[in-house]
Amino acid sequence: MKVLVVGSGGREHALCWAISPSPRCAELYCAPGNAGIAEVAECLDQDAEDLDGVVNLALDKGIDFVVVGPEGPLAAGLVDRLEKAGIKAFGPNAKAARLEGSKGFMKDLCAQYGIPTAEFARFDEPDAAKEYIHAKGPPLVVKADGLAAGKGVILCRTKNEAFAAIDHIMTEQAFGSAGAEVVIEEFLDGEEASFFALVDGVTALPLVSAQDHKAAYDGDTGPNTGGMGAYSPAPVVSEAMAGKIMDQAVKPVIAAMAAEGCPYKGVLYAGLMIADDQPKVLEFNVRFGDPECQPLMMRLKSDVLDALVACVDGTLEQVVLEWHDVVTLTVVMATKGYPGWYENGSKIRGLDEARALDDVAVFHAGTRAENGHIVAHGGRVLGVTARGATVTKARERAYQAVERIDWPEGFWRRDIGWRAIDR
Ligand code: AMP
Ligand code: GLY
Repeated sequence: MKVLVVGSGGREHALCWAISPSPRCAELYCAPGNAGIAEVAECLDQDAEDLDGVVNLALDKGIDFVVVGPEGPLAAGLVDRLEKAGIKAFGPNAKAARLEGSKGFMKDLCAQYGIPTAEFARFDEPDAAKEYIHAKGPPLVVKADGLAAGKGVILCRTKNEAFAAIDHIMTEQAFGSAGAEVVIEEFLDGEEASFFALVDGVTALPLVSAQDHKAAYDGDTGPNTGGMGAYSPAPVVSEAMAGKIMDQAVKPVIAAMAAEGCPYKGVLYAGLMIADDQPKVLEFNVRFGDPECQPLMMRLKSDVLDALVACVDGTLEQVVLEWHDVVTLTVVMATKGYPGWYENGSKIRGLDEARALDDVAVFHAGTRAENGHIVAHGGRVLGVTARGATVTKARERAYQAVERIDWPEGFWRRDIGWRAIDR
């Protein structure tokens, strides 16, 4: 079949890399893609957020199956639009994508269906929010209700920080209408992990766990980013813990979504805080994590396309996935300045030397080809991914590959995987 992947990040490169060898994939396209994706798929110059454009393109190219990577087009209803046009599409429809698109919706659902999560309250009015902060006292977490490109969550250690967060989100409208409502949560301590499952509306098929590194700099310091590195599996998610996550979070939320009239299809990403052997849901995302998708795809032995199609067809019950018994680890290389201001266009050399190493794949997250060179085009630019028998071995190999990349304008963390290695 003809497959179109929508998006342009490391996640989409990893998906294209995994889909392209599938015997069921006759032609692979990506909209808009990047310079790395162009090696495994035909990239089409089409903005992922322009729904009309994507639907018309899919019709034009006679696409049979679309995989939507990022949350923006999912929340805006791209899957609904493609289905209406008679094209099969992987991912939740707009109603189901509210699980990520509205934190208030997700928290209410958890409360109603007994899914463990931080204690919370919702507000659409700053004075009432401040009264609650005054009554509860810090530490608290203030979250813009809507999508805010990963920036809408503010951890507040003092009352004044929490008041300032309310002003920033609600009064100054830093995230526009995404901040018309806020969720205020109790601050949870523990170890974070990500857990993924494929879902076909009814059946949930567990994938594997991963651990992200959200802070920009070593030692988990500096500003929050989209993720500076990840590895899979996360040792904190033992087999017993994975069972708890499935029974207490994944299966109940799938049942809840069906009961609410918006059955969930696609990949479900549970962001968890684990403490005292108990998982609590920090967030549900309606897409693969990025960079987490990169180590995940490298561990997967089975045909990913079969599994994605089964989610849409409602036949996930028949799918058995096999995984390589290895650890995979991604080091993100970003443009200096990210997550703040940075400049595009710097030249990257040594990519071929890096990927010539065994057990290494270099996924592109933000690159362009210009006059025969690969140049940076984005904050997060590369996801250098390696496999090894242990976290230590995967990490050594990933950093060997990083060392071969000649890019003075880039920076990266040197401690990806530290939690697993510290254990
Ligand atoms: P979210 O987008 O809701 O996952 O939040 C982004 C990040 O903020 C998470 O990955 C956590 O590191 C942190 N976070 C969110 N909610 C809480 C909470 N209730 N307690 C502690 N940290 C949190
Ligand atoms: N890496 C975190 C995310 O994809 O949301």
